[in-house]
This record gives sequence, C-alpha cells and structure tokens, in this order.
Amino acid sequence: MTTSLNIPVPSTKSLTNQVALVTGASRGLGKAIALALAQEGASIAAVARSEDALKETLAAIRAAGGVAEPFVVDVADGAAVEATVEKIMARFEHIDILVNNAGVTRDGLLARMTSEAWDIVINTNLKGAFNFTKPVGRLMVKQRAGRIINISSVIGLMGNAGQANYAASKAGLIGFTKSVAREFASRGITCNVICPGFIETDMTKDLSDDLRKKLLERIPLQRLGQPEDVAGVAAFLCSAAASYITGQILTVDGGMVM
Ligand SMILES: NC(=O)c1ccc[n+]([C@@H]2O[C@H](COP(=O)([O-])OP(=O)(O)OC[C@H]3O[C@@H](n4cnc5c(N)ncnc54)[C@H](O)[C@@H]3O)[C@@H](O)[C@H]2O)c1
Repeated sequence: MTTSLNIPVPSTKSLTNQVALVTGASRGLGKAIALALAQEGASIAAVARSEDALKETLAAIRAAGGVAEPFVVDVADGAAVEATVEKIMARFEHIDILVNNAGVTRDGLLARMTSEAWDIVINTNLKGAFNFTKPVGRLMVKQRAGRIINISSVIGLMGNAGQANYAASKAGLIGFTKSVAREFASRGITCNVICPGFIETDMTKDLSDDLRKKLLERIPLQRLGQPEDVAGVAAFLCSAAASYITGQILTVDGGMVM
C-alpha cells in the first residue's frame, strides 16, 4: 500500500512477507486456516489432492487481495511431498509456517476394522505430518525461524469407540509435536498442536440429529464449533504474541475436555 505521494505505508498485518503452507486447504478447517493466515498478510501454499478442489480457497484469498498458489499432492506419499516442497520453494523461496491439517476418518469398531482402514488413516493423518515436517523443518532450521502447527483432535486425548485408527493417529500427532518442539526449539522454531472438538465441516456433516443432541449435552459452551474458531487459534500461534509457546496442546472444543 502507498500514500498519494507514493510513500510506502508500513503494513499492520502480522504475517506480511511470510509464507504459510497449509495441507488439506480445500475445505473445512484447512480452508478457514488458509484464509485467516492470508488475512494476516501471509502468502499461502495451499495443498490438496486436486487443483479443482482448491479453487474456492484460492478465489477467496485472491478476492481479498491475498496471494495463494495451489500444490497438488497426497500427503501420505513421502517422495511426492518432498518434490512438492521443492516446488513451493521454487515459487516462494521460503516457508515460515507449516500447518499439518489434512486428515481423514475410516470409522469402525476394532473387531471389524480392516488393515486398509487402519493404514489410510495413519498414513494420512500421522505419516502425512512427518512427510511435510521433515523437509520443511530442514528449511526452517536453516532459516532459524518457523512455526509448525499440527491439527490433532480431542479424540486423540480421550479416545472414541469406533475410531481406534483415528484416535491413534491423533494421539500420535501429540507425541510427534512435543518431540519436534524439543528438537527444533534451539533454532527458534515452535511446534504446537491444536485439538479441535466437534467442528461443523464436511467431516462432521453426517452426524445424526440424535448424536448431535447427545454431543451438545457434553459441550459446556452448548454449540458445535465453527472452522473460524480453530483458524483464529492457528493465527494466534503464528503471531508474535505466541513466540514463547512451544510443545503445547491447545484444545478448541467448547470446554468438552477439561
Ligand atoms: N471437523 C471436526 O470436527 C474436526 C475435529 C477434530 C479434528 N479435526 C481435524 O481437522 C482436520 C481437518 O478436518 P475437516 O473437518 O476440515 O475435514 P474435511 O474432510 O472437511 O477436510 C479435510 C481436508 O484434508 C484433505 N485431505 C485428506 N486426505 C488428504 C491427502 N491424503 N492428501 C492431501 N490432502 C488430503 C481434503 O482434501 C480436505 O481438504 C483433519 O485433520 C481432522 O482430523 C476435525
């Protein structure tokens, strides 16, 4: 931005000149997080499995005057993720923020759970975070700065019948976060984990009315969360105000788990 005399006006946005890589940015929490970080001035490397799926996210960021580019990859494919990180570096030259958000569910009681259902959930939710954090962490170590945010779940804290694979992946992300936080702290990099409760997205849209009612009885704030409830916390963790916070679990669940 400039004045009428063409003198640059300093930006008041907290993430100006930063690049944020957000996985699973096509919808739900990932889209809301990408929009929130873009609103703070970050350029967004938006990752999903198809470019078509990213159209809405990119359009919303660009319409608001932000910068966003699509990068198509399956987070579970380590070699393809390494190549994608190289492409992002070729486009943006640095990555300051990494949000490991992509996730899937394949619910079922353990007795009937197939090993395919186990593998896809662990490989996407947990290994996907490893696949991105390793190459991006290497860059952040060189930069001596960076923010890493992993999106876990309250299910990783409390377990849930019918979600042994999902709970294991999300609990794994918590241990992963604390280890990465310890490894990278001396290089000025923070790593934190957000545990959302029940947030209204495609992942939760098929809850029956009965289950919804039962859930609400367990949520002290008496509402399901919105993607923006989580996105605001992610933006906070990327801000200067959060520079002394690392290895922490931020539970965003309306008070469900205390
Ligand atoms: N919605 C909730 O209530 C809730 C609660 C707790 C945690 N979470 C977690 O938040 C994250 C986002 O959830 P959501 O509700 O927005 O889900 P969603 O299904 O709406 O979106 C998931 C995103 O991940 C992407 N994705 C899935 N598998 C991928 C892969 N292999 N490679 C690349 N991208 C992939 C999808 O394309 C999509 O963009 C997930 O990790 C989820 O486990 C959600």
